[in-house]
Amino acid sequence: MLTEEILKDALHYGKAFTKLGKTAQYIPQLKEVNKYYLGVCAMDLDGMVLEAGDTRVPFTIQSISKLVSLILAIRDCGADHLFHEKVGVEPTGDPFNSIVKLETRTRPFNPFINAGAITVASCIKGKDADEKFGRFLEFTRKLCDNDAIELNHPVYESERATGDRNRALAYYLKASGILEGDVEECLDFYFRMCSVDVTAHDIAHMSLVLANHGADPEDQEELIEPQYAKAIRALMLTCGMYDGSGEFAMTVGFPAKSGVGGGIAVPLVDRMGIGVFGPALDEKGNSAGGIKILEYLSNKMDISLF
Ligand code: DON
Repeated sequence: MLTEEILKDALHYGKAFTKLGKTAQYIPQLKEVNKYYLGVCAMDLDGMVLEAGDTRVPFTIQSISKLVSLILAIRDCGADHLFHEKVGVEPTGDPFNSIVKLETRTRPFNPFINAGAITVASCIKGKDADEKFGRFLEFTRKLCDNDAIELNHPVYESERATGDRNRALAYYLKASGILEGDVEECLDFYFRMCSVDVTAHDIAHMSLVLANHGADPEDQEELIEPQYAKAIRALMLTCGMYDGSGEFAMTVGFPAKSGVGGGIAVPLVDRMGIGVFGPALDEKGNSAGGIKILEYLSNKMDISLF
C-alpha cells in the first residue's frame, strides 16, 4: 500500500535529478520558474490523499490540457469521426512540435502531438474561442474538482506571441483540409487551453477520474464514457510522453501525460490518480524529476503495467 513515507522517499529520490533538467526556455514565464520545485500527489478511490513536496504550487497545464480537449472533442464530434477522419492513434517517435510527417501522412499521427491537439481543438463546439474556452475551463475545473482554476494571462500572451510553429502546423492542416473553420480562432483557443494554471493536486484528481473509468470519484457522475477513458489511458501509454513514451513504458510502465510546465498526469486504473510537478525538463520536454518519482513508485510498489 502507498504511504506518505514511500511518497516522501520517492520525492527525495526524484530531487537529485532536478538539477539535470532545464525549465522550458521558449517563454520567460516558464524559463524563470524555480527548477528545483518538485511535488507529487496521489489520490485513491477511497478518498485517501497523500502529498509530498510542492503539490500546491501553480504551474501551467500545457500539454496535459490535451486530455481535457480530447474528451470534449469526443463528446462533440464522436470518437468515430475524430479517430477516423481527423487524427490517428499511433506514436510518432518525433518531438511534440514536429511538422515532418504532415506532408506524407496528412492526418496527424495522434491527438497529443501539437498538430493532433490543434486538430482536436478545432473539433470542439462553441461559437467562438471565448465560448470554447469557457467550456474547456468549466470541464477542467470539474475534472480537477477545483472551481478556482483560471487562465494565466501572461503565459497566454507569451504563447500567442511566440507560437509561430503552432501557427505553421495549423495553416498546413487547414491547407490539407484536416482543420476546419477559422485557423486563428482555433489557435487562440489552443494557446488559452495550454495556459491554465493547475497544481499537482488538481492533476491527481483529473487522473483519478480516468483511473475510475471516467466517473467522478465523489458522486460517480459519468464525466467520460468508460470505453473512452480506456482508450485515452491507452493513448497516454503509447503517446503521452511523446518521443519518450517507449522508454517511459519500459522503465515506469504507467499511462501518463506530460506538459512543458512540468506536470505529469498518471491514471492507475482502479487504483489511484497521481499528479506530479517538476519544471526541470529532460531533452524530450518531460519532467526529469517527475519521471524519477514515478519510476521509484513503480519499482517500490511493483505496479508497472508490465
Ligand atoms: O504548444 C506548445 O508547444 C506548448 N504550449 C505546449 C506543449 C507541451 O506542453 C508539450 N509537452 N511536453
